[in-house]
Amino acid sequence: MSTYTFDTSTSRAHPTPAPMRRLTVPAIQQRKGADGRTDEPIVMLTAYTARMAQLLDPHCDILLVGDSLGQVIYGLPTTIPVTMEMMCAHGAAVVRGSWHAVVAIDMPFGSYEASPAQAFESASRILKESGAAAVKLEGGEAMAETIAFLTARGIPVIGHVGLTPQAVNALGGYRARGRDEAEANKIIADAQAVAQAGCFALVLEGMMEAIAVEATRSVACPTIGIGASAKCDGQVLVTEDMLGLFERTPRFVKRFDDLASRISAAAESYAADVRARSFPGEDQIYRSR
Ligand code: KIV
Repeated sequence: MSTYTFDTSTSRAHPTPAPMRRLTVPAIQQRKGADGRTDEPIVMLTAYTARMAQLLDPHCDILLVGDSLGQVIYGLPTTIPVTMEMMCAHGAAVVRGSWHAVVAIDMPFGSYEASPAQAFESASRILKESGAAAVKLEGGEAMAETIAFLTARGIPVIGHVGLTPQAVNALGGYRARGRDEAEANKIIADAQAVAQAGCFALVLEGMMEAIAVEATRSVACPTIGIGASAKCDGQVLVTEDMLGLFERTPRFVKRFDDLASRISAAAESYAADVRARSFPGEDQIYRSR
């Protein structure tokens, strides 16, 4: 277990003991062998702040600065209003707070769909301003040309197919995808198109399990599931969901803690102490000798 001291002059976290060097994009890609097997599944969680990155980093292969920060941090109704400025600022904080994991940053809605050139401009800004190693973008066959354009120009890309939250208005909600054969075939075609275009990993979100299994079998890059299948080459969850910070979470989330109750209880104790004038106590005040 690593512990960290935070150097406020440089905003860097200094872990003790010093961890191994930062993982690289090729190292993640090579987790899936030429035979299609992944002996060590890829562990990915979202992070939006330096402190959370410090805590998660020793345990993760990839820290994703997801545009889910729109809902989780900013209280927005969807990911649609998320801006480049938000992604760059939170991305830079996560890079400062991490040493080991590959940091990947979501490209926000509207920053990449118009053309490969628009995507290059946005992705290069994200990498320059944050220091992250990779971007993630949503979409299947329609995004293949853009992914090929970015990867040919030195920008590692994680693809994202199936339930793509930035398309919530077109999809009409967040229901798992691929319930009929046509939609299932389309998701598999999307996965194959973005994998062939060069993404180094591929998020499979919210789909019937059999589709995730077939997509994982039929693409060369590692797949990372969320509401997909344990047979994916790795898994991702929104950290705050996994920590139990929200009362309502989708069915595919496993809560590994119940932080909402614990935070409420701590706030209740603090409020009671303040009201009883028992905080601050002797240990928390300064007196001149
Ligand atoms: O925005 C996000 O957090 C994501 C993951 C849930 C895959 O895209």
